[in-house]
Amino acid sequence: MKFKSIKGTKDILPGEAEVWQRVEESIRHVMSLFNYREIRTPVFEQTSLFSRSIGELTDIVSKEMYTFTDRSEESITLRPEGTASALRAYIQHNVGEQSALTKLYYIGPMFRQERPQAGRLRQFHQFGAEALGSSSPQLDAEMMLVALAVYRDLGIEEFALNVNSVGCRTCRPPYKELLVNALNNVRDKLSPESQARIGQNPLRVLDSKDDHDRELTRNVPLMKDHLCPECADHFKEVQALLQSSGTPFHIDGRLVRGLDYYTKTAFEITSTALGSQDALAGGGRYDILVEELGGKPTPGVGFAAGMERLMMVLSKAGKAGMPDVRPVLFIATNGAAAQQWAFTTANALRSKGFRVEIDYLQRSLKAQMREANRMEARYALVIGETELQARSAKLKNMQTGDEEGVALDQIDRALTTL
Ligand code: HAM
Repeated sequence: MKFKSIKGTKDILPGEAEVWQRVEESIRHVMSLFNYREIRTPVFEQTSLFSRSIGELTDIVSKEMYTFTDRSEESITLRPEGTASALRAYIQHNVGEQSALTKLYYIGPMFRQERPQAGRLRQFHQFGAEALGSSSPQLDAEMMLVALAVYRDLGIEEFALNVNSVGCRTCRPPYKELLVNALNNVRDKLSPESQARIGQNPLRVLDSKDDHDRELTRNVPLMKDHLCPECADHFKEVQALLQSSGTPFHIDGRLVRGLDYYTKTAFEITSTALGSQDALAGGGRYDILVEELGGKPTPGVGFAAGMERLMMVLSKAGKAGMPDVRPVLFIATNGAAAQQWAFTTANALRSKGFRVEIDYLQRSLKAQMREANRMEARYALVIGETELQARSAKLKNMQTGDEEGVALDQIDRALTTL
């Protein structure tokens, strides 16, 4: 029996894993510039945490969650996103009492049982940030700037930032009524999926991928034109901040997110380098979510970005290069005494910071040199009885083939000066 990874999951093998490490370094670097602190939460939580926050009627909660009953009869769900868990931890540990504003970031796997396709997996990875405790539009703009700063740090320049406002508890209900009335006028002609959404989550009809639906709803009222004065001011301020920071953006009045917790700002970053799953990142403000999860009323805003999609963009741009992980030295040996010596010497050199590899398979000298070549070691040292006795050996430059004599107790010095 041969085992295979589960559909929609992916192994990240050596070669690719180093690119992930480089991306994670960029994320950590940018997060620290903006003073976000890392939080690591469990990958599973009580199911109701997610249904409460993301919304019972969303696709994520109604169709995509990995939910199971554990042996204590508790309903458990693998986290489909990071916001709910971060807020649960924030509330549970009274983090808000220690500081008025809390800025958190996370990197990790998320789970959604979606139909797998390019850029859409069942276990995928996100990096994200959440700022809790301030309703300042500066933080809404900052979230977009943080995501864009990571992309720029990695050398990606082609993306589009789409921004909208989805209103609040005051202005959304009357707007929803307007929208439902407008949608009811064309109800029979809409796709069955959109028809079902009118009663459940009418804003999502705006988001329909069906061209016919889009045409039919071309002139329906949009939330951004029906905001209450507070939301309208906030939206204007976010736009002014983006403008003053020189960040190009589009206002997309049809942008609605697949999670129900947003208030005011909602945004998405897309890339033309991706196919139909073109959203690189998404986020927005969620001023009532902490309270809904049992915390004190606390405004919040955040975003999350798909890492597999980021990798796709990087490799399309030819920027998925690997950092240098090649050994600087391969010690090839002939005989048991030389092998012993190589083991000890390699470890001594490693403790001085040199990447060193030896042979563990008792291969012939020729096979060992082939191996040194395969792993692109910069130098090789050949050690046998003669070299051990002479206390010196030849250090071979694997690229040029040049050889140089070195004293065995001076290898570190030779490697430093070469
Ligand atoms: P989201 O839009 O559901 O938002 O996900 C954010 C990003 O995660 C997407 O733009 C996409 O790049 C990536 N993503 C989502 N699903 C998949 C998948 N099945 N396969 C690969 N990548 C995927 C959230 O998750 C919110 N928690 C964002 C947020 C944080 N809002 C406020 N704070």
